[in-house]
Amino acid sequence: MKIIICPDPAHVAVLAARLLADQVRGRPESVLGLATGRTMEAIYRRLVGTARADGVDFGAVTTFNLDEYVGLPGGHAQSYRHYMHAHLFAHVDLAPERTHVPDGAAPDADAEAAGYEARIAQAGGIDLQLLGLGENGHIGFNEPLSALASRTRVVTLAQATLAQNAGMFGGDPSRVPTRAITMGTGTILEARRTLMVVTGARKAAIAARAIEGPVSAAVPGSALQFHPDCLVLLDAAAASGL
Ligand code: GLP
Repeated sequence: MKIIICPDPAHVAVLAARLLADQVRGRPESVLGLATGRTMEAIYRRLVGTARADGVDFGAVTTFNLDEYVGLPGGHAQSYRHYMHAHLFAHVDLAPERTHVPDGAAPDADAEAAGYEARIAQAGGIDLQLLGLGENGHIGFNEPLSALASRTRVVTLAQATLAQNAGMFGGDPSRVPTRAITMGTGTILEARRTLMVVTGARKAAIAARAIEGPVSAAVPGSALQFHPDCLVLLDAAAASGL
């Protein structure tokens, strides 16, 4: 792992957006793995700004998002497809048919997960995977004790995740879908480059466990210690436990 500590989340966003833009400039047909969550909002805002100001051609790029809630159709305001449209897809020249988010409304969620995994392989795998870190150590929706070799599949969300994400559902954890489709930790580890972004004091303890603790299924983010090309960007608050 390479670690870069920035003074604040704004600097983290500048650097992360630059890395994504440089990836696309260097390989216009890049396959990007994308993430959702509050941490990513500033990164996508910056990336959209860079694309407009300096020109970044997303016309040949393919994207695969990490995860989606089971039961939410892409048009639902809390779906990750909707999040991606609001924060990135509507603002850059990505071809809609090359943006992939698991279909949370698929009639057979297990088949959707298996098909998603196959589509990643058909696209040639992921060149650069963007990742956040859950407060319980999850990456994507691979909750603690997920197998480190897991593939894209349907998972049951941890209580901690329902509580953490309740803010998007009117503050009520009982309104957060209890299942999701997520790329597996094993799937994530196959990306050629990984970029994990962690900001805020609330993540300081889990960031330290993921980066410096033992590699363990108890902290799925720690699996990235095994990745040959992983960069972790933190702000000073998130790095305060290192
Ligand atoms: C969410 C997503 C993750 C995300 C993480 C952190 O539940 N499934 O992909 O990285 O939790 O979210 P946030 O940036 O809002 O803290």
